[in-house]
Amino acid sequence: MTSRREGSSHIPETGETMRGIILAGGSGTRLRPITAVSSKQLLPVYDKPMIYYPLSVLLLAGIREILVISNPEHLDAYRRLLGDGRQLGLELAYAEQDRPRGLADALRVGREFVGEEPLALILGDNIFYGHALTEVLRTERERLDGCTLFGYSVADPERYGVAGVDDTGRITSLEEKPTEPVSNLAVTGLYFYDNEALDMAAGLTPSARGELEITDLNNLFVEQGRARMVTLGRGNAWFDTGTHESLLDAALFVRVLAKRQGVRLACIEEVAYHMGFIDAEQLGVLGKECGASSYGRYLRELAGV
Ligand code: G1P
Repeated sequence: MTSRREGSSHIPETGETMRGIILAGGSGTRLRPITAVSSKQLLPVYDKPMIYYPLSVLLLAGIREILVISNPEHLDAYRRLLGDGRQLGLELAYAEQDRPRGLADALRVGREFVGEEPLALILGDNIFYGHALTEVLRTERERLDGCTLFGYSVADPERYGVAGVDDTGRITSLEEKPTEPVSNLAVTGLYFYDNEALDMAAGLTPSARGELEITDLNNLFVEQGRARMVTLGRGNAWFDTGTHESLLDAALFVRVLAKRQGVRLACIEEVAYHMGFIDAEQLGVLGKECGASSYGRYLRELAGV
């Protein structure tokens, strides 16, 4: 059984048009040879390409204008996959990052696209799931002042950016891959920023490895006392898909939800429908385009065709 809900609009009334950026670059060396000729963020995670997962998060936040950044050799594949976004009620744009220049470089590449608006940056290999996620994204978008990071408690914090947080949620310290982490709170790959982050990113000094580090940018907000952490607690799942193990773990998680509950995680067509970006008729057309796959059948059932 699939669940059916009425299509309705859940776009936050912020008066601002938050822009989204998905960073789908990098060389995927930790996943060779499967990334030898393919972009990592196009690899399948069970039933859909990886980029559907971060894209669905931006949609759930009510963001409809989204920039996809990738390497010159892969950008066209993203264009072919997602087009101009109109079929999902979105406006998608594409930009090149000629080589890995650091996560904060996305704000330099995306500067013109973002214009005067606030922005959400999401890493193309991050997968989020949680029943209250939509509400969290919406609330945080409305209360954004400076930057908002999303934390997740992990067993191996030394692999991530790690935050120290006071009891109001204000971030007091932030360190990238610390040998002695101050907490178990990993910084996930979703970042909400006020527009001034663009200037701050432009002024960053590249690190020793020649990259613009996201943690350096976030630390500028920490110094101003304007970095907030929202902890994604129990009832949420967060995966990065940087290794063969974690990629398979994520796929199995998605499969369990699909098989057991009939929940299709990160089905962008379904999310666009529930957000009121497209109607049932448009959803049905997308379902038909997916042909005989179970994914296509799911969309067609949802659309009632
Ligand atoms: C990056 C960030 C790190 C963050 C992680 C989340 O690390 O630098 O702060 O915790 O993404 O996925 P990377 O995966 O590039 O090593």
